[in-house]
Amino acid sequence: MRRFVIAGNWKMHKKTEEAVNLALELVPLMSDVRSVDVVLCPPFTALDAVGQVLRTSGLYLGSQNMHYEDEGAFTGEVAPAMLLPLGVTHAILGHSERRQLFGEDDTLINLKVRKAVTVGLIPILCVGETLEEREGGITEEVVGRQLDGGLEEVKIADPEALIVAYEPIWAIGTGRTASPEQAQEVHAYIRARLTQFFGAETAGKMRIQYGGRVKPDNAGELMAQPDIDGALVGGASLDAGSFAEIVRSA
Ligand code: 13P
Repeated sequence: MRRFVIAGNWKMHKKTEEAVNLALELVPLMSDVRSVDVVLCPPFTALDAVGQVLRTSGLYLGSQNMHYEDEGAFTGEVAPAMLLPLGVTHAILGHSERRQLFGEDDTLINLKVRKAVTVGLIPILCVGETLEEREGGITEEVVGRQLDGGLEEVKIADPEALIVAYEPIWAIGTGRTASPEQAQEVHAYIRARLTQFFGAETAGKMRIQYGGRVKPDNAGELMAQPDIDGALVGGASLDAGSFAEIVRSA
């Protein structure tokens, strides 16, 4: 019922020329993919060039962050109005690396989510707990708080206008992955929480991605879970063959 959505978060990798080459490799590999929304999220410096490669490809372009104002004295930031003309359609917001390394909190992330929705960018709102929080038995409390904070006053007319990504921090860039059952448990919880915000009909149609060491060898079983509607892929998205395999396993 829900269309899978798979995004590649290239993080701080790929200089412009390398990013263009990766996009050029991916486009033909994806040309027969009809049933999955595929989003490539290169660094800001490569958005324009990658956007040009993707123009007629059917693949979507995403940013890894954005500011919530249209313009102003915000040194080092990028406004949504600067992203839209490049063909950007999605924005990863509240990634755990932004939260942990750059001090982003739910209040700031909420301003970004609201802005993205207002200008027609699809936020990929990331939530997830640390290992300590999981072992302390407070995963749902943490994820619930991140959702409540991030989604405050967010209104969407279309269930596909907002994506949530569950990324357990202990599984990002580490050797560990959440088991499909562990991931499904949290995804079901997230959907229940989305129901409180948007009602059952909308929440039932919203996409929830899983992220954290998604690779070709585990993507299929993760996405076979009833509430896992795609993946947010880090490391494995930097290799065209691996990313294409993940997309094909949806
Ligand atoms: P890895 O796939 O490298 O674990 O990264 C996950 C992630 O953070 C995607 O946003």
